[in-house]
Amino acid sequence: MNKKSLNIEYLEYDSVKLMNSEERDLITQADENLKNAYAPYSKFKVSAVCQMENGVVVKGTNQENGAYPSGLCAERVAIFAAKSQFPDKKVDKIVITTEQTTLSPVSPCGACRQVLIEYELTQNQPIELIMKSGDSKVWKFKSVKDILPFAFDGEFLK
Ligand code: THU
Repeated sequence: MNKKSLNIEYLEYDSVKLMNSEERDLITQADENLKNAYAPYSKFKVSAVCQMENGVVVKGTNQENGAYPSGLCAERVAIFAAKSQFPDKKVDKIVITTEQTTLSPVSPCGACRQVLIEYELTQNQPIELIMKSGDSKVWKFKSVKDILPFAFDGEFLK
C-alpha cells in the first residue's frame, strides 16, 4: 500500500486591485454581466466570461427554470456559447463572479468542472480560472485539473 497525496496550488489575492489590467477588465465585464442572470428562484446571480484566444470575450449567466433541473449554471452557459460560436478557438481563461458576499469565491459545481475539463483536454491547453464573489478575495487556478483531480474523460472510452 502506498500513501499518496496531492498538492494544489492557487493564488489568492486580497483585492482585485492587485491583479493585472487585463484580469481587472475581465472581472469588471463579468460583474457588469451579472444583471443578465435569470435567477428568480435562488436569487443567486452568477456570471462567467470566457476569454478566447482570438480576443473575443463570450459571456454567460445562470439561467434558472421553474422546473429546477432544467436551469443551467453560468459557467456552462458561457463555455457552451463560446464553443458553439468558436469551435476551433481555445479558451484561455474563464472569470466567474457573483454579487453575493460569500465566505470564499464561488467555484464551479461538479457538473461544470466536468464540462470545463472536456474542453481543456481537447484544446490541449490549460484554461485559467479566476473566481470572485462580492467583495471577497480572488482565487486564481492555472488549470481546470486543479479543481477536478482524477477527472473522467473520453480517453477512458477508447
Ligand atoms: N450556480 C452557477 O451558475 N454557478 C456556480 O458555480 C454555482 C451555482 C447557479 C446555479 C443556480 O442558478 C444558482 O447558482 C444557485 O445554485
